Amino acid sequence: MATTSLLFAVAKRLEGKVALITGGAGSLGSVTAKLFHEHGAKVLIADVQDDKGHLVCQNLSPESASFIHCDVTNESDIRKAVETAVSIHGKLDIMFNNAGIVDPVIPDMLNYNQTDFERVLRVNAVGAFLGTKHAACFMKQAKRGSIINTASVCSVIGGVATHGYTSSKHAIVGLTKNTAVELGRYGIRVNCVSPYAFPSAMSRGFFERDEDDPIDDIGSNLEGVSLKPEDVAEAVVYLASDESRYVSGHNLIVDGGFTVMNSALTMFNK
Ligand SMILES: NC(=O)c1ccc[n+]([C@@H]2O[C@H](COP(=O)([O-])OP(=O)(O)OC[C@H]3O[C@@H](n4cnc5c(N)ncnc54)[C@H](O)[C@@H]3O)[C@@H](O)[C@H]2O)c1
Repeated sequence: MATTSLLFAVAKRLEGKVALITGGAGSLGSVTAKLFHEHGAKVLIADVQDDKGHLVCQNLSPESASFIHCDVTNESDIRKAVETAVSIHGKLDIMFNNAGIVDPVIPDMLNYNQTDFERVLRVNAVGAFLGTKHAACFMKQAKRGSIINTASVCSVIGGVATHGYTSSKHAIVGLTKNTAVELGRYGIRVNCVSPYAFPSAMSRGFFERDEDDPIDDIGSNLEGVSLKPEDVAEAVVYLASDESRYVSGHNLIVDGGFTVMNSALTMFNK
């Protein structure tokens, strides 16, 4: 029994790697930072929420986790975050472009204004573009690296969230595929992860739920299981690790089968 525990304790899948996580103060970002840390990675958390970002680091360890203020829509912030990761730890192996926002309500097309559309696109899509660009700059020299973008089930279907959010997540899949083709020749893999709804400040705001609401009642496909940020973080660890060394340009959907379900037929069968 003791030997088995020891074997599990040493099975670190990201030992020696350095990761930059945008939106690292939020739900998925902080849980992923914790899991990366448990698997032996050093993490730099980049976010606009300074207090929350520092708190995430305090709960890990000062030697292997640090925070930098970074607005992903600002190219000099992103450049500085990447340079900081490299100057502290000497390299950058994993770039997790995860920061995201959603509009608070679902406006209809005629009342959807340009400013709201562009605001969501700027954080979700332009932020991932800038993160990819500046991470690739260092990864190209190293001739390796894993870039992971957070998309959503809204990257493959319509009608789940707002026009801006859905467009931004489709854009992330396009960015992922195109950059995977270009950067593959430098040994850099680019993938994205597409979760179904899980509890976070963002999803609670969107669904107008209380702070401790588990968001487990919104019509998923898998009976008796609700998605947690930890489940998504496990998928991100896989894409970050060498276990996925031949996986690139892939959209890893973590939705319990939600996007392959034909809801009309399901209702008929019931
Ligand atoms: N929660 C869900 O149901 C769900 C489902 C599918 C995809 N996602 C995606 O997961 C990712 C993480 O979201 P979450 O659910 O953990 O929400 P969250 O609100 O807990 O985290 C998002 C983080 O992004 C940060 N952020 C926002 N704008 C930023 C900016 N301009 N620069 C830097 N950081 C910024 C926020 O401060 C926050 O810490 C997002 O890309 C989101 O679209 C979430």
